[in-house]
Amino acid sequence: MKILIVNGPNLNMLGSREKAIYGEQTLADMNAEIAEFCAENGIETVFFQSNSEGEIVSAIHGVRTRFGADGIVLNAGAYTHYSRAIGDALPCVGVPKVEVHISNVHAREDFRHVSVLAANCNGVICGFGADSYKLACLAIKDILGRSGK
Ligand code: DQA
Repeated sequence: MKILIVNGPNLNMLGSREKAIYGEQTLADMNAEIAEFCAENGIETVFFQSNSEGEIVSAIHGVRTRFGADGIVLNAGAYTHYSRAIGDALPCVGVPKVEVHISNVHAREDFRHVSVLAANCNGVICGFGADSYKLACLAIKDILGRSGK
């Protein structure tokens, strides 16, 4: 079982970006931590990051064909709150999807309380830092296990 972990705009700046909100860890360090946790849980991971909406859409389309993955963990950053293109890309691929956020978006500005992606995901996990991604991977493993895949 392999999971594609997609990070959107500005998440390449983790480690130097708004540390009080997003912590000190770089994206590379966070990905390494997630990969190690997943390996311990029998999950292979593949990571993708882009600041561009269209590249994120294309990565979602290619979950199987380009990345050979069975599920998607998606932190679309600010696109979460308004990208209909990313929202429409999700039902194009029949794999489980979990929206994640490092911060608790519901404890922040009003515009972050809205997600135009969540309705096309199996669920949403936010507020647990790197653990949001780990919990999402376990949720996808569980969904795939239940569907016998
Ligand atoms: C974020 C929350 C978004 O509101 C914000 O635009 C981000 C990061 C998070 O992981 O907490 O870029 O998705």
